Amino acid sequence: PFVVTDNCVKCKYTDCVDVCPVDCFYEGPNVLVINPDECIDCALCDSQCPAQAIYSEDDVPPEQVHYIELNAELAEKWADNNITEMKDPLPDAKKWDGVPDKLKYLEH
Ligand code: SF4
Ligand code: F3S
Repeated sequence: PFVVTDNCVKCKYTDCVDVCPVDCFYEGPNVLVINPDECIDCALCDSQCPAQAIYSEDDVPPEQVHYIELNAELAEKWADNNITEMKDPLPDAKKWDGVPDKLKYLEH
């Protein structure tokens, strides 16, 4: 499956959800995650993310591998918050885009 990683936190641009053919993105307060059991590996979403936060599981950078498990956990926790339509990014998305190590800010 594909995985949403650190740079989505506090940005949440949501361009990714528009292209997903199986609607497998789930929304938390300041990040999205992908349900790995539903993702069909179509690879349509990663190029759409302005923050370049989406990777195929095999290509997740080593310092971000914890996001693989986190996507699975949070997709379950946020199962009622399926998101299928793009909306406005978080207000300070531009400011946070590219800031490293945002895990501590991830609200869940
Ligand atoms: Fe959806 Fe395809 Fe991205 Fe998986 S790879 S989350 S199926 S758009
Ligand atoms: Fe996040 Fe990128 Fe989607 S910032 S909400 S993974 S477009």
